[in-house]
Amino acid sequence: MLKIAPSILSADFCNLERDIRRVSAADWLHVDVMDGAFVPNLTIGVPVVASIRKHTGMFLDVHLMIDKPVRYIDQFCQAGADLLSVHLEADHPTRIADALRAMEANGVKKAVALRPITSARAVLPYLERLDMVLVMTVEPGFGGQKFMESQLDTIREVRALIDKYNPACELEVDGGIAPGTAEQVIEAGANVLVAGSAVYGAEDPAKAIELLRTAR
Ligand code: DX5
Ligand code: ZN
Repeated sequence: MLKIAPSILSADFCNLERDIRRVSAADWLHVDVMDGAFVPNLTIGVPVVASIRKHTGMFLDVHLMIDKPVRYIDQFCQAGADLLSVHLEADHPTRIADALRAMEANGVKKAVALRPITSARAVLPYLERLDMVLVMTVEPGFGGQKFMESQLDTIREVRALIDKYNPACELEVDGGIAPGTAEQVIEAGANVLVAGSAVYGAEDPAKAIELLRTAR
């Protein structure tokens, strides 16, 4: 099933409750956590996720763009995340496996994320126990960047691996998704679309969500 996950990175942080309500027609809410080290930007952390949890029943899809994410898994789970994505580039494989185990122990859905430089096959050691793979379609760090067409091949390769080893696993794409690129990523095999500027930059976010839903 196709899911739309608006990214609150493009919301007005002084009016977060209002802006979350504006996207209530979406399936998930995408929350971008950045530490100023794994990526150059700094955004939000555990207390903000906890506050969001108090104000919405939406499924919280939390994208951790932080170094050594295993250090913070328990805290984000307790704050109310429904799913956590950790970047494969953010730590040694054994510590990534530890992070996934911590999510499992907390009963939270588990995902790994891939920067554009990372090959699809990097998911293989983890794939059978994942709920989702996140393929970045821009370099992580900022909203409003141009979609990288070269990532369509990675999406296709991850889709093939998912179909072979764990068909229930979701495939999310993030970065530069708008109606035109949505059609391309769906065709390549993605089923969860993150969109920041395409939703919050639109005059009517609900309509923008509907446009993404019917992109194909
Ligand atoms: C970028 C973030 C994205 C970002 C997407 O590093 O992970 O979730 O909000 O923004 P758009 O849709 O504007 O490219
Ligand atoms: Zn994101």
